[in-house]
Amino acid sequence: MTSLGTNCALVLGASGGLGSALVTKFLSDSAITSVFAVSSQGQPSAPSNPISPGNKLVWIKTEYDEQSMAGVVDQLKPYAGHFARVCICHGLLHSKTIWPEKRLEDINAEALHEIFQSNTVVPALWLKLLFKVLKGKTPCVVATMSARVGSIGDNRMGGWHSYRASKAALNMVLQNMAIEYARRAKNVKLIAFHPGTTDTGLSKPFQASVPSGKLFAPAFVASQLAEILANAELDGQLSYVDWKGQTISW
Ligand SMILES: NC(=O)c1ccc[n+]([C@@H]2O[C@H](COP(=O)([O-])OP(=O)(O)OC[C@H]3O[C@@H](n4cnc5c(N)ncnc54)[C@H](OP(=O)(O)O)[C@@H]3O)[C@@H](O)[C@H]2O)c1
Repeated sequence: MTSLGTNCALVLGASGGLGSALVTKFLSDSAITSVFAVSSQGQPSAPSNPISPGNKLVWIKTEYDEQSMAGVVDQLKPYAGHFARVCICHGLLHSKTIWPEKRLEDINAEALHEIFQSNTVVPALWLKLLFKVLKGKTPCVVATMSARVGSIGDNRMGGWHSYRASKAALNMVLQNMAIEYARRAKNVKLIAFHPGTTDTGLSKPFQASVPSGKLFAPAFVASQLAEILANAELDGQLSYVDWKGQTISW
């Protein structure tokens, strides 16, 4: 065990709006001894970014192929059994070449693959690879960023075919993994989290239609999630909850 302590937080996809707010939140939490931030981007430099480098923050840059991700997990091995909080923040809704589908004719195989890769495949690989460092005696709560639009029961509007489907698939992956984690790592609790519409790059093009007061600051959502993580019970179940901690129907 190194000096970085015994109550670690891990943020995967740490450069995004929610990821960076979570890093900041955990850095300010005196109960968390160290924060590991994993991203495809380099560490933002102070003072323009609220993430300040210091002993408590370890920034790990990676690609998101399985071999590189396994290399990240190797670097985390000295802290195995000491992770209390994990947030998996990956997600893609649009890019220079991808726009959420409005109708059947917009469906495109390449875009579907790309959206599933970031929203479903990458979180699934993290949960596979991290098993050996999360298992242990420290109660560990893992929140993966899902979305309410991934709820099949709640879907009355249609559209956004690939994003909705990738989040529904993510929810099923998480439910499957919760069953296996409950059997093999009873100290781990999984949460599929809906942050609400949050002011990040992901929601930017759609913010005009958000009712007043319903667009959240990333720092607010990070605080809400930190509270949910702190109060979660190790019940061996997957919880699908929103930023208020309210359960969402599957
Ligand atoms: N903002 C909202 O209103 C909202 C609402 C519901 C759900 N969500 C969910 O919340 C999560 C965080 O979103 P955000 O709002 O913070 O968006 P964001 O600012 O656009 O952040 C995107 C995140 O996805 C990662 N990412 C981007 N492209 C990727 C790829 N090709 N492969 C793997 N990872 C990739 C980035 O990681 P790097 O650190 O490597 O850049 C970053 O963590 C997503 O899962 C999103 O679906 C957001």
